[in-house]
Amino acid sequence: MQLNNNPHYHSLLSEAQQIKNTSLKDLMKQENRENDFCFTLDGLWVDISRHYINKAIFDSLIKLADASEVREKFSALDAGNPINYTEDRAVLHTQLRKPGRRETDEWQKLSAFSEALRSSQNIQTIINIGIGGSDLGPSMVASALRPFHGKQKIRFVSNVDPSDLNDCIADCEAETTFFLITSKTFTTAETLKNASLAADWLKRAHINPANQMAAITADPEKALKWGMSQKHIFDFADGIGGRYSLWSAVGLPIMIAIGNKNFISFLDGANQIDEHVLNTPTNQNIAIILALLRIWNRNFLNLPMHGIMPYDHRLARLPAWAQQLEMESNGKSVDIRGDALTQPASPVIWGEAGTNAQHSFFQYLHQGIEQQSLDILIPRNSLGCSLPDGWKESHKTLVYNALAQAEALAIGEDNQQEPHRNFPGGRVSTLISWNTTDPFEVGRLLALYEHITIASGFLWDINSFDQWGVELGKKKAKELETPNIKNDFSPAAKRFLSLLNTEK
Ligand code: F6P
Repeated sequence: MQLNNNPHYHSLLSEAQQIKNTSLKDLMKQENRENDFCFTLDGLWVDISRHYINKAIFDSLIKLADASEVREKFSALDAGNPINYTEDRAVLHTQLRKPGRRETDEWQKLSAFSEALRSSQNIQTIINIGIGGSDLGPSMVASALRPFHGKQKIRFVSNVDPSDLNDCIADCEAETTFFLITSKTFTTAETLKNASLAADWLKRAHINPANQMAAITADPEKALKWGMSQKHIFDFADGIGGRYSLWSAVGLPIMIAIGNKNFISFLDGANQIDEHVLNTPTNQNIAIILALLRIWNRNFLNLPMHGIMPYDHRLARLPAWAQQLEMESNGKSVDIRGDALTQPASPVIWGEAGTNAQHSFFQYLHQGIEQQSLDILIPRNSLGCSLPDGWKESHKTLVYNALAQAEALAIGEDNQQEPHRNFPGGRVSTLISWNTTDPFEVGRLLALYEHITIASGFLWDINSFDQWGVELGKKKAKELETPNIKNDFSPAAKRFLSLLNTEK
């Protein structure tokens, strides 16, 4: 059922019209709002009080989710039903977070390899070559959990621009470098080109690439044909989508970086959110509530953009990861039956780490005419390593800044005499907070974003698990590499090509 066919859609539309005429500053003063609109789960704190909602709207949104059978759809996902309709397969990434996986051969092989590489005296640098879901998740989590790393350097190369690989290996020795080639399909042009360049680099140092490369893929046959050694191939199921894959063997760089015990804690954090989503009534279900706010802001209040601002420098790449997650999952214009959507789906996802973002585009957020919704993310404590007092104070300053922005954006400050100093307020945000950024908390945070994405997809009635929209560009790039098959290209493209051929 599309959103506008939901029995609660029209009443919510008129509630949206009414609440738009209320000031957020006044709403924020409503009695008990700080309790009614703050949800907690073992120290995870989600405050949605700075949104244009009241209790009646919240209740209607919950009914909207129930009428769209969001919880039933999560149960179908968990049961392994083939809910990825266009590819006729199940969605399996949440299975990887269940403790039972640790009894499997897949886990034994992966964890043994990870520990062996991690404790190797010969290998100093591990470089993951992959793109999209085969890069963004592992590289973001590796940065987020920097204090848990062992001695080896963990690096990531994604872009087909040769400068990416060049700069990455510039200070490495071939003898002490190990490459992980991560590609679900093992056909992605960027990854295979970089893998070949890396293999050539090893060969130039008289090293057999098969000894210092491993493949992580859902198509082991292709990796074998490419030249990987059988014992260095780690596979995962087709039902694990690229952007949801960091829990699988794709997480190997994270595992090597933080060790198996911490990786298990990361999985456990995600599993706690899975259980919460499956077993919690809608009106307390944090992921479904946040998905409802995506829909409320996008489709009822017409805010087309959603910013994700982590006040945690190590989470600086979280917006980039979430961008693929939400926009590749929900950037769709047809529903699960192939009918045109009558309502736009995914907002534009973007963001940057605070406080840096405050000294960049926050001017636009406070006083620009167009508005967006935000997530403001903040760990309440800096990592529990032995920070001297001065360092802890700096972290407090970071926390105060996060809260100050949420308040300033929502409440504003009136100054009619000097319009350039007037802060209109009414800018909505969710404050998401946790204790310290450790493996368990990062697991919870990422699983939460995944479930927000999936629940939003259920509400829009779209398939959040395919990504056909990326195919045409890939096909055209391939055509350009093939001589004489350029008939479909525009005169402008042909003119540009002739320039490429004449310039050296
Ligand atoms: O082109 C998009 C995409 O297919 C993503 O969905 C995926 O994460 C990325 O490319 C990389 O794909 P692969 O892991 O197969 O190399």
